[in-house]
Amino acid sequence: MLGGRPLFGEPLHVGRPNLPDRRRFGELLDCMFENRWFTNYGPLVRVLQSRLQEKLGVRHCIPMCNGTIALELAYRAMGFEGEVVVPSFTFVATAHALEWQRITPVFCDIRESDFTIDPACIDALVTQRTTGIVGVHVYGNPCDHEAISVVASKHGLPVVYDAAHAFMSEAGGASVCRMGALSVLSFHATKFFSTFEGGAIATDDDEIAERVRLMMNFGFAGREKDRVDYVGTNGKMTEVCAAMGLAMLEQVEQIREVNAANHAVYGEALAGIPGVRLAQPSPALEMHNWQYVIALVDEEAYGLSRDQLVRVLEAENVLARRYFHPGCHRMEPYRRSFEESGRSLPVTDRLSGMVLSLPNGESVLPEAVRWIGDTVRLAGTKAGEIRAKLKEGGHA
Ligand SMILES: Cc1ncc(COP(=O)(O)O)c(C=O)c1O
Repeated sequence: MLGGRPLFGEPLHVGRPNLPDRRRFGELLDCMFENRWFTNYGPLVRVLQSRLQEKLGVRHCIPMCNGTIALELAYRAMGFEGEVVVPSFTFVATAHALEWQRITPVFCDIRESDFTIDPACIDALVTQRTTGIVGVHVYGNPCDHEAISVVASKHGLPVVYDAAHAFMSEAGGASVCRMGALSVLSFHATKFFSTFEGGAIATDDDEIAERVRLMMNFGFAGREKDRVDYVGTNGKMTEVCAAMGLAMLEQVEQIREVNAANHAVYGEALAGIPGVRLAQPSPALEMHNWQYVIALVDEEAYGLSRDQLVRVLEAENVLARRYFHPGCHRMEPYRRSFEESGRSLPVTDRLSGMVLSLPNGESVLPEAVRWIGDTVRLAGTKAGEIRAKLKEGGHA
């Protein structure tokens, strides 16, 4: 701080929205008003749908109102019930969307290397009641689909993916959204690609797509909307959100480059700080959106806990996030039944105590990244000095 005021006047948030070209967005809004069509699978939603299908290389990418409703519909379209195996190290919506439908999330541990569900832990969690497996491509890192498929086939279980972080993640020569029976995307304002609020279900399976299309529109079938084939809900994306999506799609390549460049600057700015390590994207990735900058803080070596560092950064107007902390199995709605199960998730518990998500996106300048690095370094050095003094004075 300088004179009690943070050096950077502008707050540096994790999840500060990336912006589209405003003129382009305005043109698309004009188009929407001229059409007088605001929702109900309008022309802009249709164009967005086909652009997304092209970009992701999937047969269907159905735009929806948000990622959480997309998850709920995805689970329902798959016929999930009873129990579903899901990682605990994820945004709570992955689990809530199960519990909301009275499906029990059975929490699984993750791999140290890439934060994704550990295929080696799944088998022991499968019971007579298990109806599916959910993987999450955390921070855009692809799950090990091959290994998950081996366990899934052994038990005859379908696999779906929460790809909320993985827009433009590619591995094995294709979008990660081609893995499993279907993938769910989030286009929330904090995401790399945003439609204000929004999401989608991507799948190559025509039948699943048809079910999702019916369920997201109250179950209406037929042109006259006088036939209802399924219990449905309202999961539709509006035209204004589609306009944002179309404008944002024109910017994503540029944003990806800014993100990647910032990531490299973070690498230099945090290099050599004892106890602070920058997580690297999975080596399996051939393309990556670089939106998430994840530092791992080892309290013993750094001198401050991750949570203390969050407060230091906050005093400097840097709003870093403990993303994901705690694991879902430690959250109130799930805590008790997890404790009663007698299971443990050691990797999830350890990593959720260390992870720190740092600001990235097109509003974050390289000098801000260097300054964040300097702040982290200085805080660690000062903490070390204070500890040494306390030790000298016999207080440690
Ligand atoms: C991994 C994950 N799943 C699901 C969601 C829910 O998406 P939405 O906010 O669009 O409902 C998010 C959003 O933050 C997420 O990060």
